[in-house]
Amino acid sequence: LATILLLHVTYGARIDNQQEDEFLYDTFPEGFMWGTATSAYQIEGAWREDGKGMTNWDFWAHENNGANMANGHNGDVACDSYHKYMEDIDLLKNMGAKSYRFSLSWARIIPTGRIADGINQAGIDHYNRVIDGLVEAGVQPFVTLYHWDLPMPLVQNGAWLNETIVDHFTDYARVVFREYGDRVKFWLSFNEPHVFCPSEWQYAQHDFFQDPPVKPYICAHNIIKSHAKAYRLYDSEFKPSQEGKMGITLNCDWPEPKDLNNATHVEASDRSMHFHYGWWANPLSRGEYPPIMREILDEKSAAEGRNTSRLPTFDAEWTEIINGTLDFFGLNHYFSYYVLPSNGTSTWLDGDANIQQEYDPAWNYTAVGWPVTPFGLRKVITWISKEYGFPPIYVTENGYGSYERDGLDDPERVDYYTNYINQMLKSIKMDGSDVKGYAAWSLIDNLEWVSGYTVRFGVNYVNFTDPNLPRTPKQSAILLKKIFSDNGFPQ
Ligand code: NOJ
Repeated sequence: LATILLLHVTYGARIDNQQEDEFLYDTFPEGFMWGTATSAYQIEGAWREDGKGMTNWDFWAHENNGANMANGHNGDVACDSYHKYMEDIDLLKNMGAKSYRFSLSWARIIPTGRIADGINQAGIDHYNRVIDGLVEAGVQPFVTLYHWDLPMPLVQNGAWLNETIVDHFTDYARVVFREYGDRVKFWLSFNEPHVFCPSEWQYAQHDFFQDPPVKPYICAHNIIKSHAKAYRLYDSEFKPSQEGKMGITLNCDWPEPKDLNNATHVEASDRSMHFHYGWWANPLSRGEYPPIMREILDEKSAAEGRNTSRLPTFDAEWTEIINGTLDFFGLNHYFSYYVLPSNGTSTWLDGDANIQQEYDPAWNYTAVGWPVTPFGLRKVITWISKEYGFPPIYVTENGYGSYERDGLDDPERVDYYTNYINQMLKSIKMDGSDVKGYAAWSLIDNLEWVSGYTVRFGVNYVNFTDPNLPRTPKQSAILLKKIFSDNGFPQ
C-alpha cells in the first residue's frame, strides 16, 4: 500500500496567504537531521507499570472524575508506546527519519523525583531498550528531559516555585547523562516552559493563576537555573567523553506586525519576541533577562506598590552560571498572529508586554482553528538568527492538528508541511540561518493534553478504538518520507 501511495504523493498545494513568495526548489544542507517528535505522557501509557511514580498529569487526568480533560480522556494507556515502541521505531525507519525527538518520564526513572528515595531500574532499562532500538535503526535519539510530567511529591512541594527543585532536576539529569549519554548526543532540558510555567495543570492546582502574575516569573527563574545547572554538569563531567550537545526548546510562534509600515507595530512585534522567547534565551545566552522586560516589569511592579519587581534578578554568581549555556536553540513553531500595541484588553503574557494579538480572517486555519501561516516560520527563524548571532537551530516541533474523524487522507496537513518546510529552507538559503534539523509533530496521533484524543497531530494514524492501537501512515507521512529522502525540494 505504501508504495502505491508513494507513486501518487506529490508536494502539497501552495498556500497563498499574504506575503507568500515563489516556492523554492532547492535542497537542505548535507546531513540535515530530519525526524519527528513525541513526548512521554502523550504516548507511553503504562501509567503505573514497572515502578513508575505518579505525576501531575496522572493526577490532573483523574481528578474531578476526569472533568479536567476533554471527554474524560487520560494517558493511562495512550498509544501504549511503553510496550509498542518497536512499532514506533519501525514507522520512523519506514519514513527514513534520521532522528527521533522523545521525552523521558522523570517518574519512571526516579519515582518520587528525589534521588534519595531511589532509582527505578525498570524505568532505566525501558529507555535503554528504546535508545538501542533507535540506534540499531539508524535513528539518532534527540532526548527531552522534561516535557511537562512532574513526579507528584515534587508537585506537592511547590513544583517549579520551590527552588529546591533545581537540585532535584540536576540529580535526575546526572542519572540520564550517565545511563544514556554514550548513545544520546542531543539533549533538551525543557520543552516550552513558556507554556507550562503559567499553567494550572503544571502544579495540579486550579486556582494557580493570579493577576497580575508573579508565579510564572518565579517558575521561569527556577527553570533557567535548572537548565543551567544541568548544562554545567554535562559540560564538565560528561561532554568531554560523550561529545553531545544540549539546548532548550522554546515555543516560537511569530508575532507579525499588523501594519508593517507602522513603527509602533514593529516595536510591538519585537517586544513580543523578547517577552515570549527572549525571557529564556536572553538569560541563557547573555546572563540576564531582556532589557525591555526588565524595564517594563520593574516599572509596573513599582506602580503596583511592590518592594521588589515581579521579574526576579540573578545575582552575580547565578549570572555566571546561566550565561552561555546553550549549544543550540530548539524551536517549536505552529502559527503566526498579528500584534500591535495594547489597547488595554490583552491578557497574559501580552498584558505585561503592552501588546495585543489579532487574527486575520483572510488567513487559512487548521481544522482546530490555528492559523496556517507558513511565512511565519521563516520570519521567526530569521529573527532569532539575527538577534542571537546565527546560532545552530533545530526546529523541534511543527505540525497540523485536526479532529478525530480524520483518517489517512490528510491533504491539508500535506500542504502545511510542504509550505512550512519550504519557508524554513528559505531562511537557510536566503537569510543565512543555521538550521540543522527539523522534527514534525507528531510521529503518531496521541494525547493532546487537556484536549485528550479529540485532536490528532500525527503523521501516522492511531486507531484508538482498536485495543491493539494499530498505527498506519497518513499521506503526510509519505510526503515527509519523500522530503526526507530528497533532502528537500530538488529541481
Ligand atoms: C507543543 C507541545 O510541546 C506538544 O506537547 C503539543 O502536543 C504540541 N505543541 C501541539 O499542541
